[in-house]
Amino acid sequence: MTSADTTPPAPAHLAADDDWWRTAVIYQIYPRSFADSDGDGTGDLPGITARLDHLADLGVDALWLSPFYPSPQRDGGYDVADYRAVDPRYGTLADFDALLARAHTLGIRVVVDLVPNHCSSEHTAFRAALATAPGSPERDLFHFRDGRGPDGGLPPNDWTSMFEGPAWTRVTEADGRPGQWYLHLFDPGQPDWNWDNPAVRADFETTLRFWLDRGVDGFRVDVCDALVKADGLPDWPHPTHGVIEPVDGVMPPMWDQEGIHDIFRAWRKLLDSYDGHRILCAEAWLPPERAARIIRPDEMHQAFNFRFLETPWEPDALRAVIDESLTANDEVGAPTTWVLSNHDVMRHASRFGYDGPVALEHGVGADDPQPDRAAGLRRARAATALMLALPGSAYLYQGEELGLPEVTDLPDAARQDPVWERSGHRIRGRDGCRVPLPWTSQGPSFGFSDTPDTWLPQPSYYGPYAAESQRDDPDSTLHLYRGLLRLRRHHRLGTGELRWLSSPDGVLHFTNGAIEVMTNLTSQPVPLPPSRHVVIASAAVTDHVAPDTTVWLVRD
Ligand code: GLC
Repeated sequence: MTSADTTPPAPAHLAADDDWWRTAVIYQIYPRSFADSDGDGTGDLPGITARLDHLADLGVDALWLSPFYPSPQRDGGYDVADYRAVDPRYGTLADFDALLARAHTLGIRVVVDLVPNHCSSEHTAFRAALATAPGSPERDLFHFRDGRGPDGGLPPNDWTSMFEGPAWTRVTEADGRPGQWYLHLFDPGQPDWNWDNPAVRADFETTLRFWLDRGVDGFRVDVCDALVKADGLPDWPHPTHGVIEPVDGVMPPMWDQEGIHDIFRAWRKLLDSYDGHRILCAEAWLPPERAARIIRPDEMHQAFNFRFLETPWEPDALRAVIDESLTANDEVGAPTTWVLSNHDVMRHASRFGYDGPVALEHGVGADDPQPDRAAGLRRARAATALMLALPGSAYLYQGEELGLPEVTDLPDAARQDPVWERSGHRIRGRDGCRVPLPWTSQGPSFGFSDTPDTWLPQPSYYGPYAAESQRDDPDSTLHLYRGLLRLRRHHRLGTGELRWLSSPDGVLHFTNGAIEVMTNLTSQPVPLPPSRHVVIASAAVTDHVAPDTTVWLVRD
């Protein structure tokens, strides 16, 4: 069955709004951990479909699905073995179509993940490359090179993998001898494609069309700034992790090379040839002014604002990043996006439970200093209320609407993030934000599955965080998120304009249209301005705004 003739385009109520993405609140689903329909302890597509009412009730505009494609799961599905299929663990293409149809009926758009920098070492193209000799057209789809040193025993350059260790792995040739090396910016199970080869470009266009024909509303594009590498793959004796900055005006040879923009322009043309305003969202850990170049009018639509996500709970830093982000994106006519959590970083309800900066992807073990859970949640609620008052588009990560903390006491034996092994058990990694969600206060896995044996174990304290436990509690985090999203939509804050008001040190105070926002980051209560009333607040308010609280006000 091909989808082009069986899948209807987005329904009229969705197709009508050209600019939906400029203001959209997009909810990220990590399929492995959202909801399990078949009792194997791993989430799946039918599980998601069965829970879509939760998203409709929350009031989001779109959902983004992290990869659900066939994959050996060396990197949680970001090692894709087949770009145009569904992993049997997650269901079938028919299950995907059912999910999409149900989401559209509920008025929720669906964005899928495109992983173009690398595939899985189990992809047929890579297996074919391994089976052929050096110099073959099959090898030219990837970056194969001879090694340096006497027997070619040293990697071709000094690049390191984002998951620690060299970015190169040596292969064994057909005659059994050690042979060439291939490049992988991430795990050895994730060989980088060679985007200088037109066959790679053509194949990804086929993938884009495949999902567009099925009716998806767009793509979140994984590590999109790494597709093109500098000619000759030169050494780079500088750090390449975290937000990537130029050194003496030169970008690292694996990041943000000029050639990426032609690829995005070609994709934009392709998307624009479809109806329904399909979008591209860039995942690139670049400073705002570099990320903005990817979202010029003929390239992608949006880029994640990782600078915002990285900003600690400090008033001056927050104000600066908000201004910097709006300025950088306004200059290219793109909406600013906002994000506090995703599947790669410590959940913000825990991050803000530490005083001072936190290593985002490092992970926390049971013996490490633990976050203050109450303080973290209080600040997280205030931070979300601040974020959702800002103009532009916002991304939410599954479970943050429940105020879920990072799981900081996972048994080390359960860890799956490849960085844990590759770092020699130095870096625990990102599993703590990927633990299966609690839906009910009781049950073998709090309603996630029929089995208690979930792919990552859930903590015993999950019950009160469950969606069911919070649904009818007006003080719950779920209730707060619902209220913020409803008011954001009602007051059209996504299309609004931010104007700072004067405020005491440590207080962020601004208007966006009819809504006036105050976030108190001091340790003292601050008085509410006169002749205003509170429409929503992240914590109880009297005639003062307590520390670590955000309020939305309107004039009486
Ligand atoms: C992106 C993904 C992350 C993955 C990496 C490699 O950063 O968000 O989860 O490990 O790319 O694909």
